Amino acid sequence: MNNGNVSVQKWSASSRIFHWISVLLLLVTWLLMLVYGYTDSKIYIGLHKAFGMSVLFWMLARVINRVFTKAPPALPMPKFQIIVSQLTHFILYALLIAMPVTGLLMSVYGGRPVDMFGLFEIPVFVTPVRSMARFYNDVHADILWPMIIVFTGLHIGAALYHQFIKKDNLIGRIK
Ligand code: HEM
Ligand code: HEM
Repeated sequence: MNNGNVSVQKWSASSRIFHWISVLLLLVTWLLMLVYGYTDSKIYIGLHKAFGMSVLFWMLARVINRVFTKAPPALPMPKFQIIVSQLTHFILYALLIAMPVTGLLMSVYGGRPVDMFGLFEIPVFVTPVRSMARFYNDVHADILWPMIIVFTGLHIGAALYHQFIKKDNLIGRIK
């Protein structure tokens, strides 16, 4: 057993790397959308799509990692908190996959291929349908994005609660 604040059982090195690179990719993807909002420049929407697709590829690898590596046992805490945290982690995985998938579908149904940093292109693999593009645009912007904000907020709020109120070094497990 670990003893309180002194030592903790960590997530595997791969899980820790997957976690923080995902955070970085999500941040960059969002910032690019923010900059696009101000500039309306094609460069930023193009980069938004390429980084967004990078989130998808990264998350697919992360799911494989999650299946094959063991999660550390939960810190001592009420059962409901363990269930809520596991449920939140599961939902965050699902959102980080669904978000780029709807972005991709919005693009290809709009008849636009996705340029991956000039390295390769994801072609239009469906018959473009305007109404489908609009549907996925709505899901992307009005449903999934607010959900990402809510669940990420919950997640970071919980991390801060552990850090500053419970002082149980939970963050040390993912550092
Ligand atoms: C985790 C990945 C992604 C995140 C977090 C994300 C986030 C966002 C956000 C916050 C918006 C603005 C929504 C609003 O109008 O309020 C947006 C719009 C958009 N996203 Fe993404 N996105 C991701 C992936 C993608 C991908 C992979 C593509 C396409 C391949 C894409 C294409 C677009 C497009 C075309 C828009 C609409 C721009 C416009 O309104 O003109 N996104 N995204
Ligand atoms: C400053 C930002 C963040 C902090 C401080 C943070 C902190 C943590 C901590 C402490 C854990 C381990 C929890 C435990 O051991 O029970 C964790 C796990 C996790 N975090 Fe974060 N996190 C941050 C951002 C994010 C973001 C933005 C996402 C996704 C949108 C995310 C998704 C996850 C997931 C899915 C896990 C479960 C580990 C796994 O299965 O890979 N985190 N985070």
